[in-house]
Amino acid sequence: MKHTHSQAIPQSSHFLRSSVSTALALCLTGAIAQQPKAATDPWMDPALPPEQRAHLAVQAMTLDEKIQLVHGSGWGVLRAGAPVLPGHNGGAGFVPGIPRLHIPDINLADSAVGARMAARESRYATLLPSVLGLAATWDPEAGFLYGDVIGRELRDQGYNMSIGGGANLMREPRNGRNFEYAGEDPLLAGVEVGNLIRGVQSNHIMGDLKHYALNDQETDRNTLNVLLGHREMRETDLLAFEIANRIGQPTAVMCSYNRIEGDYACENDYTLNKVLKHDFGFKGFVLSDWNGTHSTVKAALAGLDMEQPGTVYFGEPLKHAVESGEVPAARLDDMVTRILRSLFVSGAVDDLPARRVVDPFRGRKDAAHIAEEGIVLLQNRDAALPLSKTQTGLIAVIGSHADVGVLSGGGSAQVDSPGGNAINIKEGASVWGRPVYFPSAPLEFIRQKTSQSTVQFDSGDDPKAAAALAAKAAVAIVFVHQWMSEGQDAATLSLPEKQDALVEAVASANKKTVVVLESGGPVSMPWAPRVSAILAAWYPGIGGGESIANLLFGDVNPSGKLPATFARQETDLPNPHVPGLTEKTTNNRMDAGGDAAARAARNITVDYRPEGLKVGYKWFQTEGKTPLFAFGHGLSYTTFAYSGLKVDKIKAAVTFRLQNTGDRAGDEVAQVYVTLPSSTGESFRRLVGWQRVTLAAHESKTVSITPTPELLSTFDEPSDTWKRPAGTYQVEVGAASDDLRLKATVNLR
Ligand code: GLC
Repeated sequence: MKHTHSQAIPQSSHFLRSSVSTALALCLTGAIAQQPKAATDPWMDPALPPEQRAHLAVQAMTLDEKIQLVHGSGWGVLRAGAPVLPGHNGGAGFVPGIPRLHIPDINLADSAVGARMAARESRYATLLPSVLGLAATWDPEAGFLYGDVIGRELRDQGYNMSIGGGANLMREPRNGRNFEYAGEDPLLAGVEVGNLIRGVQSNHIMGDLKHYALNDQETDRNTLNVLLGHREMRETDLLAFEIANRIGQPTAVMCSYNRIEGDYACENDYTLNKVLKHDFGFKGFVLSDWNGTHSTVKAALAGLDMEQPGTVYFGEPLKHAVESGEVPAARLDDMVTRILRSLFVSGAVDDLPARRVVDPFRGRKDAAHIAEEGIVLLQNRDAALPLSKTQTGLIAVIGSHADVGVLSGGGSAQVDSPGGNAINIKEGASVWGRPVYFPSAPLEFIRQKTSQSTVQFDSGDDPKAAAALAAKAAVAIVFVHQWMSEGQDAATLSLPEKQDALVEAVASANKKTVVVLESGGPVSMPWAPRVSAILAAWYPGIGGGESIANLLFGDVNPSGKLPATFARQETDLPNPHVPGLTEKTTNNRMDAGGDAAARAARNITVDYRPEGLKVGYKWFQTEGKTPLFAFGHGLSYTTFAYSGLKVDKIKAAVTFRLQNTGDRAGDEVAQVYVTLPSSTGESFRRLVGWQRVTLAAHESKTVSITPTPELLSTFDEPSDTWKRPAGTYQVEVGAASDDLRLKATVNLR
């Protein structure tokens, strides 16, 4: 979307937080203003290719100027008392520009699910649904829209770089950051996050893809060592990044904290130089996660291009390494060229952010649209849903602060709630480690939907009281929550705070019990057989309460499909426990007083080799385990029929008819899975394509989906290439990975 300028407020170059930092800052860098462009500098000619512009600018730079660009300026606003330099925009990171050469400052903002820390600067930002909720839309256009909201609001706030774009695969359903990622399948995750990055960058700011790679749990994330074969990496976690990179063309990739086969991800020659830069053709720059850099020479030679947040390794030590020849001058030039190329190619130089007022209504509408496409109807016995707007009697609404708001995820993805945390208004801006609710109260919107019913709320703190209310009601709606955050994992799949008992009590009091789940990822549901309906609402974003009510009462027909398997119990998972997380150990929580030395001493190994390629639904299939709800599962208020499968023998193009056999319009996400020839040793089906199809009542459409060749291939390590083997391929088409309606085999040469 072309960015249009309204009246711009000139960007002040002075954001100083305290007199102390003022003195320190000014002697460090002096006031940095965004200079008007000078036509004379050849690299400022937008007609030149970005590579050439970057090359020309690097040639004009001094060694000190090059060093200045390859590291941040310190913890800044993230750590009380840290110096905050002029030009720092209040985000997670800041790299002072070079006014002499008209290179702008780089202001980096966390923005996994919306712009973080906006309230601190008296700004507004839209909380989008979780990225997992976006993935549940299976809608690439929703991915682009998601990123567009983030990109335009960051730009309005004066930032020129987003550090969102999490694409880590859900190998671990209890990972605290699953709400920031797009599920267990590399194709779905890559497509959604790739389009999200496209959306961000369409606003002429730099986008990011993170946390590269295999940072699939939070426990001991700073030191854990991941073991996994190269073929397995390339067909799972790295494939998600490969697809996201191809679609999104991110200007930056953030390397992660963990080690991979012994080397830290930010100094790992194989994953950075060989796979990302050579095999994937990544032309942007690699920046470290915050304090994720562990060396100067090794990291520089392995492919790291920028240290964040500070200067420990890529400040003076890198300058000395270059002067001594330990790091070739050409490598430093490559680092700076990549950074400058990203600035030029993104538009961040030619179209400087001109601060504007964020449009909260537009943001809320976009967030609600995505939420309503991504909320999943998991179960709907006896058509308990949609609820009737004219039904009489009492409606009981129970639990999870549904009277004041909806839950959001914690950590560096935390967006500030307008007016403050709905469950603790005086708290003001978000506090790390505390759950934040957004003021979109399901209770209020449920009340608005019904004209003949009384709607009564119970907190759910006392299951007996909740059951007593439910017993009097025509229908009981129980809201349950699972708060997740960066820096910690869930010890189990179970709902916390004895919520299972609450649901059991309500269900035993009222046979028409509806459960609405606000979670960061999959949870177990022992009570599922005893409730009528279940909605997975994820973290539904700034308008979440209204979106949930719209689906409960049928103003919106559910169309979401699970981006991850919901297991019945831990023992069905590859790891019954999160590696390193036992009842005795603390999490990796940075603020919980967890003993860093003890954590470092643990140096745990996370061995993904046993399950290897078999992530998520592939594991359940090969292990013969039945999930509670399968990958790709999601119901509708209408029904769909599949027929007429044809598979083309050359490109394996799949064509079929899809009909809406019900009386109301709806969207169906029709999925295509393939099982490769047995010679590959892969006996499981893999998602190779899908289409989200909108159909009016009784309408039919022909759907055609052509898998890309590497999705029909395996990664051959000896030749280091993708190979599509000859042989018999099984093709299956259906509404979920466990609801396959059409099958065919095709022999491909
Ligand atoms: C954090 C996160 C990363 C975030 C960065 C800056 O530790 O791992 O996702 O962007 O630091 O806040």
